[in-house]
Amino acid sequence: MIFSVLTLFPDMIRNAAGVSILGRALAESRFELDVVNIRDFAVNDYGKVDDQIYGGGTGMLLMAEPLYQAAKAQCAKYSEMPCHVIYLSPRGRKLDQQMVESLAGKSHVMLVCGHYEGVDERFLEATQAVEVSIGDYVLTGGELPALVLMDAVARRLPGVLPSADAFEDESHGAGLLAEPQYTRPAVWQERAVPPVLLSGHAAKIAAWRKARQIETTIRRRPDLDGLRRLSEEDWRAAFDVLSKETDDG
Ligand code: ADE
Repeated sequence: MIFSVLTLFPDMIRNAAGVSILGRALAESRFELDVVNIRDFAVNDYGKVDDQIYGGGTGMLLMAEPLYQAAKAQCAKYSEMPCHVIYLSPRGRKLDQQMVESLAGKSHVMLVCGHYEGVDERFLEATQAVEVSIGDYVLTGGELPALVLMDAVARRLPGVLPSADAFEDESHGAGLLAEPQYTRPAVWQERAVPPVLLSGHAAKIAAWRKARQIETTIRRRPDLDGLRRLSEEDWRAAFDVLSKETDDG
């Protein structure tokens, strides 16, 4: 899979994507990253890429032409693949795990990072860009949202994480939040790890984990879809585990 990123701050993308799990995945060619400086497609020799907003208002807008030429060049460079253009914007559809899974199946995803007050609407129309938001707050530019999206998608690509099996158990994997987890020592500051986790009884541990996922999701995110997908058997098993825990004090 190829990510093209159109940005005014290429180093911000390259630096952040060059370390940790993304950095290793890039070094192992699990995906490709092609960062493009929008200024290379400026409309004049002074590197002009932005202008004032028609109708008045403070701030500047990225012009349609440099963005369009940059996007066109990237689509042509990988012309054998369909090009999926995403514009990161607080106005977009909110990124969730379902969207991440769907993007992980695409061959070329182009992430367009806006700055200033945004971009000329005609660029979005001409490229049929899909607008994506990472949450209901406003950032100074699209670079951090692009990195967030890329990180979430890249970790779903084959070979990026050590084990694909882990996904179902983690937060949002099955539409539920992750259960609490513990590591050594078994008692820390007089707080003991739940005894079932030390029992070595695989079926009991799995039942405990699922029950605590359900409990955590009900308490924190009752809106999540995973709760609606649980069977009567799942509810019964969770109730069993949780009521025993309460009885035990
Ligand atoms: N650009 C600025 N704020 C943003 C947000 N919340 N999501 C995506 N892109 C943005």
